[in-house]
Amino acid sequence: MASVKLSNLRKVFGAVEAVAGIDLDIPNGEFVALLGPSGCGKTTTLRMIAGLEVPTSGSIHIGDQDVTTLQPRDRDVAMVFQDYALYPHMTIDDNIGYPLKVRGVSKAERSERVRDAAENLQIGNLLDRRPGQLSGGQQQRTAVARAVVHRAQVYLFDEPLSNLDAKLRLEARAFLKHLQREVGVTGIYVTHDQSEAMALADRIVIMNAGRIMQTGTPLEIYRRPANTFVATFIGNPPMNLLPCRYDKAERAIIIDEKFSIKADAFSLPASITDTKLSLGVRPEHIHIETTASPDAIEAQLYVVQPLGSESLIMVRVGEHLLSVRTFGDEVPDLPPRVWLRPDYARAFFYNSEGDLVS
Ligand SMILES: Nc1ncnc2c1ncn2[C@@H]1O[C@H](COP(=O)(O)OP(=O)(O)O)[C@@H](O)[C@H]1O
Ligand SMILES: [Mg+2]
Repeated sequence: MASVKLSNLRKVFGAVEAVAGIDLDIPNGEFVALLGPSGCGKTTTLRMIAGLEVPTSGSIHIGDQDVTTLQPRDRDVAMVFQDYALYPHMTIDDNIGYPLKVRGVSKAERSERVRDAAENLQIGNLLDRRPGQLSGGQQQRTAVARAVVHRAQVYLFDEPLSNLDAKLRLEARAFLKHLQREVGVTGIYVTHDQSEAMALADRIVIMNAGRIMQTGTPLEIYRRPANTFVATFIGNPPMNLLPCRYDKAERAIIIDEKFSIKADAFSLPASITDTKLSLGVRPEHIHIETTASPDAIEAQLYVVQPLGSESLIMVRVGEHLLSVRTFGDEVPDLPPRVWLRPDYARAFFYNSEGDLVS
């Protein structure tokens, strides 16, 4: 196990700046998720760490060693690719055991460790088959088993569960987290799936267009998104953003040029100079009421979606559609006109650049 340090890491493909100079410190034993939309540079970052792509500039350290220009085989990393990359002529047993074989692990120990990894991933009964005789999901689990069967310094995962169906995905996710907790490996896990990143990672790195948007524990990011990109990327449904205006003289927040709410209700910094803002509030932090009251925002009911353990209520404020979440399996019976009372202490403001005002 070892730490990983990326310094001003950059990769340009022709006219495309895939990774635009990122800095990241991953301590020994931490499991980090790189999370972001398709094309934001996650795979390219991972491939540079593995040694499969040469950085345009910047450096990569594993432990104390500068590995920036080392061959993949000279870096002690294990990687699970998005497209599995199994050896078609070998059995599943030999595929999983291959990293142990090339390291000279005895046949008896190999066999035990292969069986252990395969059983944990529910492919223990498929060891005699060849990759061509397996479903996509089974091949993917073989690739995960092959990566975790030998102890590398750093484990790299590129969307390893993306081809599994929902149930297997949850099981494989739990296994990976359990393994990580037990062995304490340093891991970098690439995904575009926020719930996977939230569930697995000690820390999430949110990327967009080759840049890091925010780094923090899953709950730090969920509770305090640093900008509107993160606010609307994390959370399902995402944070509501309602354009508003700050009236400094009145010390009030004006929504839709209609509702004025005293700024004292918010944890709004006194130093604020921007006037054009967005009010950010999570769907679960809005209370919905059927009668008018001061500080409550009038809204029109749009639709109620019962989801079993919760209901998702969509409402309109002027031209803006907001979501409100209520918990429990009682579906609220609401009139066409409702009033919203955000938990103002948990609301955020973003400036016109999209950055958190704090
Ligand atoms: N080998 C390559 N040649 C040219 N462009 C590439 C290559 N690999 C990736 N890119 C481009 O770099 C950007 C980042 O890609 P990638 O790292 O695969 O993103 P992600 O894994 O986040 O979906 C994309 O615009 C992609 O088209
Ligand atoms: Mg990718």
